[in-house]
Amino acid sequence: GGNPRKPFIAFVLGGPGSGKGTQCTRIASDFGFAHLSAGDLLRNEIASGSEKGVHFRELILDIIKEGRIVPSEITVELIRKAMESTDAKRVLIDGFPRCEENRIAFERITGTEPDLVIFFDCPEDEMVKRLLGRNQGRVDDNIETIKKRLKVFENLNIPVVDYYSSRGKVHKISATGTEEEIFGAVRKLFASLGFENFVFHKSR
Ligand code: AP5
Repeated sequence: GGNPRKPFIAFVLGGPGSGKGTQCTRIASDFGFAHLSAGDLLRNEIASGSEKGVHFRELILDIIKEGRIVPSEITVELIRKAMESTDAKRVLIDGFPRCEENRIAFERITGTEPDLVIFFDCPEDEMVKRLLGRNQGRVDDNIETIKKRLKVFENLNIPVVDYYSSRGKVHKISATGTEEEIFGAVRKLFASLGFENFVFHKSR
């Protein structure tokens, strides 16, 4: 195979509240990545009044409220479409794949694997504290749903991290400390992979 236009793909994984979204925003602006968040794509779908109709949107909302995983075909299709509509050469896929089924569906549908997997490693009590403290609380940021999200993460998402670890693709970053400290480690990782700092470059 080998698609000459295939972008560089980084999956960004970590528990709920580990800071995936926060760090992805910074990676996107400093290193010129497009940022595709599975959770945001699903929330946009709920808010969109899309052609799929109200029942479809309610289904997604109910699943998110319960902290469960949305069916693979829905998420993979949203990600595939988002990838298709960006011409970025570097793409961050944040909060996906969530489970082995997601991973397999992605690889089958896109015919590709990630080039890199970043795993933000954060203790549970810290994640809970951050989610409960989030300014504009989301429908899934209550203690009951947070506990379920953590269980789903442990049972379904960790196996995906283990799979990519066994393929030598995972870079684990400690996600405790300040946002700035964590981004320092992220910056080092990208530098070690040969990525230039976009912002620094532009401002010279
Ligand atoms: P999703 O939107 O992906 O949420 P999540 O994984 O639970 O993670 P969050 O967005 O809550 O946290 P984050 O790690 O991005 O941290 P953030 O930067 O926001 O998914 C939500 C739901 O959608 C799922 O439960 C599921 O139902 C569904 N879904 C999503 N993907 C799916 C898929 N692939 N398949 C099926 N279903 C799917 O930070 C959190 C807070 O901490 C913020 O307030 C932030 O300001 C703060 N913070 C960040 N960094 C620090 C720091 N260093 N110190 C202190 N505070 C910090």
